[in-house]
Amino acid sequence: MTGKPASQSQVIMTELVLPNDTNQLGNLLGGRLMHWIDIAAALAAQRHSGKVCVTASVDEISFHEPIKLGHVVHIQAVITRAFRTSMEVQVTVEREDPLHNSRARTSSAFLTFVAIDQYGKPLPAPPVIPETDDERRRYEQAAMRREVRLRSRAAMEGTHP
Ligand SMILES: CC(C)(COP(=O)(O)OP(=O)(O)OC[C@H]1O[C@@H](n2cnc3c(N)ncnc32)[C@H](O)[C@@H]1OP(=O)(O)O)[C@@H](O)C(=O)NCCC(=O)NCCS
Repeated sequence: MTGKPASQSQVIMTELVLPNDTNQLGNLLGGRLMHWIDIAAALAAQRHSGKVCVTASVDEISFHEPIKLGHVVHIQAVITRAFRTSMEVQVTVEREDPLHNSRARTSSAFLTFVAIDQYGKPLPAPPVIPETDDERRRYEQAAMRREVRLRSRAAMEGTHP
């Protein structure tokens, strides 16, 4: 199967935090942000594979600082590596305060997606071609993260990896 450059899958999603996205403190709801992260990552996986993709897992997500009502949220998603049928996507989140011209990274996460056919059967994923030093580093580290993920999954399910 022909490989595709990592950069071709890149997705940048921009959202404005509106009242319906916030809690009583005027902060963006974590669940809303997780929804946006999932959508952006799914689009990157679909762009890479050219197929419908489902979320297989979401690694730990931390929220480093609150995102407030009226802030702009920039969600960037890019494929780091494809394995047999699974694809790892890295998502980074930045919040922009448009009135004070400030911008800061608030979250990052790794998600795993699988492209499926009409019967829900996993399909092979095209290899990822890393082109920059950053992409090569993320590509190498993806193998370690996968190992940890599979071990943790096996431990949770009481099976051996
Ligand atoms: C993800 C899914 C397609 C995997 O199907 P499966 O029949 O278990 O297939 P396999 O066991 O062959 O796994 C396929 C790939 O997914 C990976 N995978 C499966 N579960 C995983 C998990 N929890 N975390 C990370 N990777 C996972 C496997 O390691 C395998 O990767 P590889 O082919 O690159 O080696 C299937 O479990 C599914 O449809 N899940 C529901 C997805 C969904 O609805 N998501 C939305 C949330 S409700």
